[in-house]
Amino acid sequence: MKSPSPLFSCSHCGAQTSKWAGRCNECGAWATIKEDIFTKENTPTTTNKNFKPGILQGFNSESAKEATMTPTGLTSLDTVLSGGLVAGSVTLIAGEPGIGKSTLLAQVAITIANTGKKVLYITGEESPAQITRRLTRLTKNIPATLFFLNDTNVSIVAATIAHEKPHLTIIDSIQTMHHSESSGEAGSVPQVKACGAIITEAAKHSHVPVILVGQVTKDGDIAGPRVLEHIVDTVLFLEGDAQHRYRILRAIKHRFGSSDETAFFAMTENGLEPVHDASQELLRDRPKNISGSSVTCLIEGHRAILIEMQALLGTAGYATPVRRATGVDSARLGMLLAVLARRAGINVHDKDVYANAVGGIDARDPSIDLALAIAIASAMKDTPIPPHIGVFGEIGLAGEIRPVSLPDIRIKEFARLGFTKIIVPKNQGTKKSAGCECIEVATLRDALETMWGQAPNCG
Ligand code: TYD
Ligand code: MG
Repeated sequence: MKSPSPLFSCSHCGAQTSKWAGRCNECGAWATIKEDIFTKENTPTTTNKNFKPGILQGFNSESAKEATMTPTGLTSLDTVLSGGLVAGSVTLIAGEPGIGKSTLLAQVAITIANTGKKVLYITGEESPAQITRRLTRLTKNIPATLFFLNDTNVSIVAATIAHEKPHLTIIDSIQTMHHSESSGEAGSVPQVKACGAIITEAAKHSHVPVILVGQVTKDGDIAGPRVLEHIVDTVLFLEGDAQHRYRILRAIKHRFGSSDETAFFAMTENGLEPVHDASQELLRDRPKNISGSSVTCLIEGHRAILIEMQALLGTAGYATPVRRATGVDSARLGMLLAVLARRAGINVHDKDVYANAVGGIDARDPSIDLALAIAIASAMKDTPIPPHIGVFGEIGLAGEIRPVSLPDIRIKEFARLGFTKIIVPKNQGTKKSAGCECIEVATLRDALETMWGQAPNCG
């Protein structure tokens, strides 16, 4: 039999190559390429006579029944999970460091342990003293049924889950776990994959729901939670700006329910508190009668959230003016400035431009285009936008206003918050909404004329 040609793989990112190299072509790590040794036992073969056929089951069997959900007790989290946690399921909660993953999970642990159920908190990230400090910040009395294990060996963790059979296990984080028989350092792709698979097996066998924390870095760390997405049952993302107050918890994948649910939280001194009326909260401090401020509507899962878009212009101090975007895409801002100049005669080439989606909200969505363009025009004209006017629509390069998804939900949200006039894309097919006048516009120029009677002459 011909011996298989050697295969090399990177111990950091798991990429495979047919040639050895000093540096991995995929992830750029040095000295991580090693030869995969195939012995007679581990060389893959197409048939293996040692395996017996599997046992078939009918769809009426016990194991094919719908899984039952156990609520976590945190209503907002239960909404995102379509009811709660399923026994034996693995949920990955991912997000940037400092966003509040450990805080949210400490709250879950306290809530469940307060009902007398055993909760196991396994951490390799923080010392017992650090966890205790967080817990005492969140509750007066740490429940007696909340236990922690300060171990990073995944085999010990799996054995503990199987032995203790807690009501819930939290592992903070998967990047700190290591498997002694897999290659690479803790947090590398092969390690994260191996640890994820071992924990998933332990969860399934002992019917214990497990929540894994996955750290994501701003530049999308290669060993991040992406490699686990297909192994786990549910993937949740906690998003927001760590410097700001608000967080959105979003289901990206959910095997036991809808992945369209979101929850809105505010980070307070008492941990993450659910915000039930996000639009009202985000518009609460909106300045009135100030130029450069408009209100638009984002869709997060099923719900509509009104947010304020702001623009500020200053005289450019350098030959290349400053363009700074917070919460909005900077390339999109550049495109909108070009369209404003070319299609509506609003030229800011000699101005510094600052654009901001208020509240640290990620508004990188084309439906905010019109609101941002109008805020820039308002700043240029130094004329405020009347506070009862809402705006949404995508802008094309020809200055045309394009329809966006779910217009009726957006209009309803504007009407609920007392807005009386909404500027919407033409051909959007919006239904009439009580107490709200919808004005359809075909172009950016039309929109500016609707707002101020005539396109502001700023060019
Ligand atoms: P943390 O949950 O540790 O973030 P992650 O696990 O995602 O890295 O905490 C994030 C921040 O939240 C931290 O800077 C401290 C702050 N925080 C509060 O504002 N209030 C609180 O009640 C707690 C526990 C933390
Ligand atoms: Mg943490």
